[in-house]
Amino acid sequence: FGRMAEPDEILQAIAGYFGGAAPLSGRHALVTSGPTHEPIDPVRYIANRSSGKQGHAIATALSRLGARTTLVSGPTQLADPAGVDVVHVESADDMLAACREALPADVAVCAAAVADWRVERVSAAKLKKDGGGPPKLALATNPDILAALSRMGNRRPHLVVGFAAETERVVEQARVKREKKGCDWIVANDVSATASVSGGVFGAADNQVHVIDAAGVESWPLMTKQQVAERLARRVADHLHATAGSAA
Ligand code: PMT
Repeated sequence: FGRMAEPDEILQAIAGYFGGAAPLSGRHALVTSGPTHEPIDPVRYIANRSSGKQGHAIATALSRLGARTTLVSGPTQLADPAGVDVVHVESADDMLAACREALPADVAVCAAAVADWRVERVSAAKLKKDGGGPPKLALATNPDILAALSRMGNRRPHLVVGFAAETERVVEQARVKREKKGCDWIVANDVSATASVSGGVFGAADNQVHVIDAAGVESWPLMTKQQVAERLARRVADHLHATAGSAA
């Protein structure tokens, strides 16, 4: 390797030596993860509760199956996963630009919690409490990265997987989201405080998801985010093996 090799690289090299190539070898996977931060002024921003745990675990799992993996991550406290190319971004606009830059990809998995809105006019100076009451912040709609990747014509990844964070009628609303955004699969999770994941999915170690595709719904049991990621990566590998030429 010419440097200290990561354990995953050693395992892949051994598999290659014995003729058992990793199932995603030769593939390129693009993953989004974490929140976005939408600036208000130099000190304040709009954000959400995503920790990046689920998205980062997916990038790791795809990489372990042999995919060259690009992780486009919003601001998180997590270390960059080993063996993955990580692009750090702040806002939804930056995330979309980094995703476009990373194409072509065989599969895109959009696990990021992208802010739906940004402040229309970001103030160059810190907004002051001048006695006139709180500032009126006009909002603008952010680009939808999942929908953009799903509708990219010949640059569209062969398989586009979205997530749906819902608080009620989880499967029903996720189904509608899959149609609206044009992705192939959508992984629905209940992010309400009363969900099966105690304390809520954001930042937790566990997740309980429903994988929805054109054929129907698979409801997976409660498991760790790492187990969700591994099962999803295996499903991606099986699907690409069955249906796709390589974009990498
Ligand atoms: O990060 P963790 O703490 O581990 O939590 C994991 C998670 C709850 C963030 C994750 O499992 C999850 O549900 N991610 C999607 C969160 C989300 O923004 O869901 P949504 O239903 O609002 O969006 C639907 C899909 O559109 C998502 O794939 C999202 O990435 C995408 N999207 C949304 C808005 C936007 N402007 N651009 C997008 O690409």
